[in-house]
Amino acid sequence: MRKKLIVANWKMNPETPKRAKLLFLAIKRGLKKIQNLKIIICPPFPYLSIIKAQLSPIKLGAQNCFWEEKGAFTGEVSPKMLKKLGVEYVILGHSERRKILGEMDIMINKKVKLALKMRLKVILCVGETKIERKEGKTFKVLQNQLKNCLKEIEKKDFKNLILAYEPVWAIGTGNFCRPEDAKNVLLFLKRKFENLPILYGGSVNAKNAKDYIEVGFDGVLVGSASLKSKEFLKILKNLNS
Ligand code: PGA
Repeated sequence: MRKKLIVANWKMNPETPKRAKLLFLAIKRGLKKIQNLKIIICPPFPYLSIIKAQLSPIKLGAQNCFWEEKGAFTGEVSPKMLKKLGVEYVILGHSERRKILGEMDIMINKKVKLALKMRLKVILCVGETKIERKEGKTFKVLQNQLKNCLKEIEKKDFKNLILAYEPVWAIGTGNFCRPEDAKNVLLFLKRKFENLPILYGGSVNAKNAKDYIEVGFDGVLVGSASLKSKEFLKILKNLNS
Protein backbone atom coordinates (compact mmCIF):
# COMPACT_ATOMS: atom_id res chain seq x y z
CA MET A 1 0.00 0.00 0.00
CA ARG A 2 1.11 3.55 -0.78
CA LYS A 3 2.38 5.47 2.25
CA LYS A 4 0.12 8.29 3.35
CA LEU A 5 1.47 11.75 2.58
CA ILE A 6 1.62 14.37 5.28
CA VAL A 7 2.52 17.80 3.97
CA ALA A 8 3.45 20.57 6.41
CA ASN A 9 2.91 24.01 4.90
CA TRP A 10 4.70 26.45 7.17
CA LYS A 11 3.60 29.44 5.06
CA MET A 12 5.54 32.57 6.19
CA ASN A 13 6.58 31.03 9.53
CA PRO A 14 8.43 30.80 11.87
CA GLU A 15 9.91 34.26 12.20
CA THR A 16 13.60 33.41 12.50
CA PRO A 17 15.95 30.77 11.07
CA LYS A 18 16.74 29.67 14.59
CA ARG A 19 13.12 28.93 15.33
CA ALA A 20 12.77 27.16 11.99
CA LYS A 21 15.64 24.89 12.86
CA LEU A 22 14.27 24.20 16.34
CA LEU A 23 10.85 23.36 14.96
CA PHE A 24 12.33 21.08 12.37
CA LEU A 25 14.56 19.29 14.87
CA ALA A 26 11.70 18.84 17.34
CA ILE A 27 9.65 17.20 14.59
CA LYS A 28 12.56 15.08 13.49
CA ARG A 29 13.28 13.85 17.01
CA GLY A 30 9.67 12.75 17.37
CA LEU A 31 9.78 10.74 14.17
CA LYS A 32 11.65 7.77 15.52
CA LYS A 33 8.53 5.66 15.84
CA ILE A 34 6.86 6.84 12.64
CA GLN A 35 7.53 4.55 9.71
CA ASN A 36 4.38 4.30 7.67
CA LEU A 37 4.12 7.88 6.47
CA LYS A 38 5.83 10.08 3.93
CA ILE A 39 6.45 13.47 5.53
CA ILE A 40 7.08 16.55 3.45
CA ILE A 41 7.99 19.86 5.07
CA CYS A 42 7.51 23.03 3.06
CA PRO A 43 9.29 25.92 4.81
CA PRO A 44 9.72 29.45 3.41
CA PHE A 45 12.49 29.69 0.75
CA PRO A 46 15.19 31.13 3.06
CA TYR A 47 14.95 28.12 5.38
CA LEU A 48 15.23 25.43 2.72
CA SER A 49 18.98 25.15 2.98
CA ILE A 50 18.97 25.15 6.79
CA ILE A 51 16.66 22.18 6.80
CA LYS A 52 18.31 20.42 3.89
CA ALA A 53 21.42 19.73 5.95
CA GLN A 54 19.53 17.39 8.27
CA LEU A 55 16.78 16.14 6.06
CA SER A 56 16.45 12.37 6.14
CA PRO A 57 13.83 10.83 6.48
CA ILE A 58 11.78 13.96 5.86
CA LYS A 59 11.29 15.23 2.31
CA LEU A 60 11.66 18.86 1.40
CA GLY A 61 9.00 20.88 -0.40
CA ALA A 62 8.67 24.50 -1.54
CA GLN A 63 5.55 26.64 -1.36
CA ASN A 64 5.84 28.09 -4.84
CA CYS A 65 8.09 28.40 -7.89
CA PHE A 66 8.18 30.44 -11.09
CA TRP A 67 7.29 29.33 -14.61
CA GLU A 68 10.51 30.40 -16.36
CA GLU A 69 13.84 28.62 -16.06
CA LYS A 70 15.98 31.74 -15.61
CA GLY A 71 16.20 35.43 -16.41
CA ALA A 72 15.01 38.87 -15.42
CA PHE A 73 12.16 37.98 -13.06
CA THR A 74 12.71 39.98 -9.92
CA GLY A 75 11.74 38.17 -6.76
CA GLU A 76 11.09 34.81 -8.38
CA VAL A 77 12.63 31.39 -7.78
CA SER A 78 13.06 28.76 -10.49
CA PRO A 79 12.35 25.04 -10.15
CA LYS A 80 15.99 24.34 -10.97
CA MET A 81 17.18 26.44 -8.02
CA LEU A 82 14.85 24.47 -5.81
CA LYS A 83 16.11 21.15 -7.16
CA LYS A 84 19.67 22.19 -6.39
CA LEU A 85 18.63 22.77 -2.79
CA GLY A 86 17.31 19.24 -2.48
CA VAL A 87 13.66 20.18 -2.91
CA GLU A 88 11.54 17.31 -4.25
CA TYR A 89 8.01 18.72 -3.97
CA VAL A 90 6.35 22.05 -4.71
CA ILE A 91 2.93 23.34 -3.66
CA LEU A 92 1.24 25.21 -6.51
CA GLY A 93 -2.10 26.98 -6.77
CA HIS A 94 -2.54 27.53 -3.05
CA SER A 95 -5.61 29.68 -2.41
CA GLU A 96 -3.60 32.26 -0.47
CA ARG A 97 -1.50 32.87 -3.58
CA ARG A 98 -4.58 32.95 -5.77
CA LYS A 99 -6.36 35.42 -3.47
CA ILE A 100 -3.57 37.63 -2.13
CA LEU A 101 -1.17 37.63 -5.06
CA GLY A 102 -3.68 37.32 -7.86
CA GLU A 103 -2.41 34.03 -9.22
CA MET A 104 -4.69 32.77 -11.93
CA ASP A 105 -5.15 29.30 -13.39
CA ILE A 106 -3.21 30.27 -16.49
CA MET A 107 -0.17 31.18 -14.36
CA ILE A 108 -0.51 28.09 -12.23
CA ASN A 109 -0.67 25.98 -15.38
CA LYS A 110 2.65 27.41 -16.58
CA LYS A 111 4.21 26.70 -13.20
CA VAL A 112 2.89 23.14 -13.11
CA LYS A 113 4.30 22.50 -16.58
CA LEU A 114 7.79 23.70 -15.80
CA ALA A 115 7.93 22.14 -12.34
CA LEU A 116 6.98 18.75 -13.80
CA LYS A 117 9.47 19.19 -16.63
CA MET A 118 12.16 19.79 -14.00
CA ARG A 119 11.00 16.62 -12.23
CA LEU A 120 9.61 18.25 -9.13
CA LYS A 121 6.57 16.55 -7.65
CA VAL A 122 3.69 18.99 -7.80
CA ILE A 123 1.07 19.30 -5.08
CA LEU A 124 -1.70 21.15 -6.91
CA CYS A 125 -4.27 22.83 -4.65
CA VAL A 126 -7.86 23.27 -5.72
CA GLY A 127 -10.90 24.37 -3.76
CA GLU A 128 -14.08 26.40 -3.73
CA THR A 129 -14.90 29.56 -1.77
CA LYS A 130 -17.72 29.78 0.75
CA ILE A 131 -20.01 31.54 -1.70
CA GLU A 132 -19.29 29.04 -4.45
CA ARG A 133 -20.12 26.23 -2.06
CA LYS A 134 -23.35 27.90 -0.95
CA GLU A 135 -24.36 28.31 -4.57
CA GLY A 136 -23.74 24.61 -5.18
CA LYS A 137 -20.85 25.26 -7.54
CA THR A 138 -18.16 23.20 -5.81
CA PHE A 139 -17.76 20.53 -8.50
CA LYS A 140 -17.95 23.04 -11.33
CA VAL A 141 -15.24 25.20 -9.71
CA LEU A 142 -12.95 22.23 -9.15
CA GLN A 143 -13.53 20.96 -12.65
CA ASN A 144 -12.56 24.33 -14.13
CA GLN A 145 -9.51 24.75 -11.93
CA LEU A 146 -8.28 21.29 -12.84
CA LYS A 147 -9.00 21.69 -16.53
CA ASN A 148 -7.13 25.00 -16.67
CA CYS A 149 -4.25 24.18 -14.35
CA LEU A 150 -3.58 20.82 -16.01
CA LYS A 151 -3.96 22.02 -19.58
CA GLU A 152 -1.45 20.33 -21.92
CA ILE A 153 0.11 18.28 -19.15
CA GLU A 154 1.23 14.99 -20.61
CA LYS A 155 -0.21 11.81 -19.16
CA LYS A 156 3.29 10.49 -18.45
CA ASP A 157 3.87 13.42 -16.08
CA PHE A 158 0.82 12.57 -14.02
CA LYS A 159 2.95 10.20 -11.96
CA ASN A 160 4.52 13.27 -10.36
CA LEU A 161 1.25 14.95 -9.60
CA ILE A 162 -0.61 15.07 -6.29
CA LEU A 163 -3.93 16.86 -5.84
CA ALA A 164 -4.91 18.66 -2.65
CA TYR A 165 -8.57 19.44 -2.06
CA GLU A 166 -8.46 22.61 0.01
CA PRO A 167 -11.83 24.29 0.45
CA VAL A 168 -10.89 27.98 0.74
CA TRP A 169 -13.36 28.61 3.57
CA ALA A 170 -11.72 25.88 5.66
CA ILE A 171 -8.17 27.22 5.43
CA GLY A 172 -6.86 28.87 8.58
CA THR A 173 -10.35 29.18 10.03
CA GLY A 174 -10.64 26.17 12.34
CA ASN A 175 -13.80 25.48 10.35
CA PHE A 176 -12.77 22.22 8.69
CA CYS A 177 -14.81 20.50 6.00
CA ARG A 178 -16.70 17.59 7.52
CA PRO A 179 -14.97 14.38 6.41
CA GLU A 180 -18.24 13.00 4.98
CA ASP A 181 -18.61 16.14 2.83
CA ALA A 182 -14.96 16.05 1.81
CA LYS A 183 -15.51 12.43 0.81
CA ASN A 184 -18.02 13.47 -1.86
CA VAL A 185 -15.37 15.70 -3.38
CA LEU A 186 -12.80 12.94 -3.07
CA LEU A 187 -15.04 10.54 -5.01
CA PHE A 188 -15.59 13.19 -7.67
CA LEU A 189 -11.82 13.70 -8.01
CA LYS A 190 -11.04 9.98 -7.96
CA ARG A 191 -13.49 9.40 -10.80
CA LYS A 192 -11.49 11.82 -12.91
CA PHE A 193 -8.00 11.02 -11.66
CA GLU A 194 -8.18 7.53 -10.27
CA ASN A 195 -4.45 7.00 -9.88
CA LEU A 196 -3.48 10.31 -8.34
CA PRO A 197 -2.91 10.70 -4.62
CA ILE A 198 -5.49 13.12 -3.26
CA LEU A 199 -4.94 15.05 -0.04
CA TYR A 200 -7.30 17.05 2.12
CA GLY A 201 -6.25 20.42 3.54
CA GLY A 202 -8.04 23.05 5.63
CA SER A 203 -7.88 23.26 9.43
CA VAL A 204 -6.46 19.75 9.82
CA ASN A 205 -5.50 18.98 13.42
CA ALA A 206 -4.66 16.02 15.62
CA LYS A 207 -8.33 15.37 16.32
CA ASN A 208 -9.63 15.29 12.75
CA ALA A 209 -6.65 14.15 10.63
CA LYS A 210 -7.42 10.46 10.84
CA ASP A 211 -11.03 10.98 9.75
CA TYR A 212 -9.86 12.14 6.34
CA ILE A 213 -7.71 9.06 5.90
CA GLU A 214 -10.61 6.89 6.98
CA VAL A 215 -12.89 8.30 4.29
CA GLY A 216 -10.21 7.54 1.69
CA PHE A 217 -7.86 10.50 1.31
CA ASP A 218 -4.23 9.63 0.59
CA GLY A 219 -2.92 12.18 3.07
CA VAL A 220 -3.36 15.63 4.53
CA LEU A 221 -1.92 19.09 3.99
CA VAL A 222 -1.43 20.78 7.32
CA GLY A 223 -0.95 24.52 7.86
CA SER A 224 -1.10 26.04 11.33
CA ALA A 225 -1.03 22.70 13.18
CA SER A 226 2.34 21.95 11.56
CA LEU A 227 3.91 24.91 13.37
CA LYS A 228 3.50 23.32 16.78
CA SER A 229 5.77 20.30 16.97
CA LYS A 230 3.67 18.53 19.61
CA GLU A 231 0.45 18.92 17.66
CA PHE A 232 2.11 17.92 14.39
CA LEU A 233 3.70 14.85 15.97
CA LYS A 234 0.32 13.92 17.39
CA ILE A 235 -1.12 14.06 13.88
CA LEU A 236 1.69 11.81 12.64
CA LYS A 237 1.25 9.38 15.51
CA ASN A 238 -2.50 9.13 14.92
CA LEU A 239 -1.98 8.47 11.22
CA ASN A 240 0.87 6.04 11.67
CA SER A 241 -1.22 3.47 13.51
P1 PGA B 1 -4.54 25.40 7.81
O1 PGA B 1 -3.84 25.65 6.40
O2 PGA B 1 -4.22 23.98 8.21
O3 PGA B 1 -3.93 26.41 8.74
O4 PGA B 1 -6.00 25.59 7.62
C1 PGA B 1 -3.92 24.69 5.41
C2 PGA B 1 -3.34 25.19 4.11
O5 PGA B 1 -3.27 26.39 3.89
O6 PGA B 1 -2.89 24.41 3.30
